[in-house]
Amino acid sequence: MEIFLKRWFCSLVLLNILPLCYCLDNGLALSPPMGWLAWQRFRCNTDCENDPKHCISERLFMEMADLMVSEGYAKAGYNLISLDDCWLDKKRGSDGRLRPDPLRFPSGIRALSNYIHSRGLRFGIYEDFGNYTCAGYPGILNHMELDAQTFADWQVDYVKLDGCYSFPSQMDKGYPEFGYFLNRTERPMIYSCSWPFYQLINKMEPDYKSISNTCHLWRNFEDIQDSWQSVTSIIDYYGDNQDTLIPLAGPGHWNDPDMLIIGNFGLSYEQSRAQMCMWAIMASPLLMSVDLRTIRPEFKAILQNSEIIAVNQDPLGVQGRRIYKKQGVEIWTKPVLPMNGKKFSWAVVVLNRRVDGTPSQVTVPLRELGLDSEEGYHVRELNDHKDIGFLSKDQAIRVDVNPSGVVMLKCTIQRVPPFTP
Ligand code: GLA
Repeated sequence: MEIFLKRWFCSLVLLNILPLCYCLDNGLALSPPMGWLAWQRFRCNTDCENDPKHCISERLFMEMADLMVSEGYAKAGYNLISLDDCWLDKKRGSDGRLRPDPLRFPSGIRALSNYIHSRGLRFGIYEDFGNYTCAGYPGILNHMELDAQTFADWQVDYVKLDGCYSFPSQMDKGYPEFGYFLNRTERPMIYSCSWPFYQLINKMEPDYKSISNTCHLWRNFEDIQDSWQSVTSIIDYYGDNQDTLIPLAGPGHWNDPDMLIIGNFGLSYEQSRAQMCMWAIMASPLLMSVDLRTIRPEFKAILQNSEIIAVNQDPLGVQGRRIYKKQGVEIWTKPVLPMNGKKFSWAVVVLNRRVDGTPSQVTVPLRELGLDSEEGYHVRELNDHKDIGFLSKDQAIRVDVNPSGVVMLKCTIQRVPPFTP
């Protein structure tokens, strides 16, 4: 009934009976989006003459698309390749349309989109709500309808709309307006918004109801940088603000704590596992930004850990909660399938932020994690794929967690009481 009402409402809008609105009802991003974004690893390197392998060019995106498939990322669920800033020419064409830098994207964006689609992947693009993108290329302000149509003509599947060089006070109107134009093209596109972040840094209170009705994902906090300090500051933000943020997340609408930096320069092996597990339990989009040509096998294995990805992609779509934080140890939990009656299975991450040079032993009674099913749980460690075994609600989980590392468990609820002779 609700869906019917929404569609009916949308058709009134299209018939111009109601004022402008964006109706987000296109069945996209039912689980957190997964893919590859250029920004964190390749930034705004436009020097193709001296650095042809790393500059923002069609070659880079085509190579990444090939590797997404040949190296198993696509099979693991990463299905998007997206441009970020610095793909544009500094000026629009004489027809007013956006166009790519002609030297770095000589075949044009439609050709690149075709190439990425031919690999079975989705194609994403980056733009900005303001006059300019953050790196100073043309923004969409005053060209929304045309730019939405251009994206549809280029067969874009995902649009990241940044918010530099704009007035955050205009975003409550402007982001839904662009969403409306995207929707009106009738090409389904995932809409990624930076709207709340720019409002928060300008001391405004974001209208999260409107944001989650308009966007499939949205940035709430600062850009990730290539360091553990940056990763932990993001984890703190999502933990400290969880009562506001958790209710917003669900199928079709996600908080976005920014890209995965696993495989780059700043994180150790343990810290990389920690980022993967934390992003999984927070039901965050899994957007890698790494050079897939040179990534070391141990980091690739972290990114492709199917059991951890399954927690992130769990159909319930619930964002995990920090339920314990003391002396450098945090415990986060997320309800997942399967269920037994009204009771859930649970994913659990124990995060050790301590730096004393030996693992910390953490012991938690299941009951204190909220795991109180009479039938008990089958517990499995997900980083090393090891069964821990059956635990009843009266038992405790005992784990050793490495410094700046994690242990991630899945506690699968049992449906049948264990047999006792
Ligand atoms: C902002 C965004 C980043 C990236 C850059 C590009 O800082 O938050 O993710 O897109 O702009 O300039």
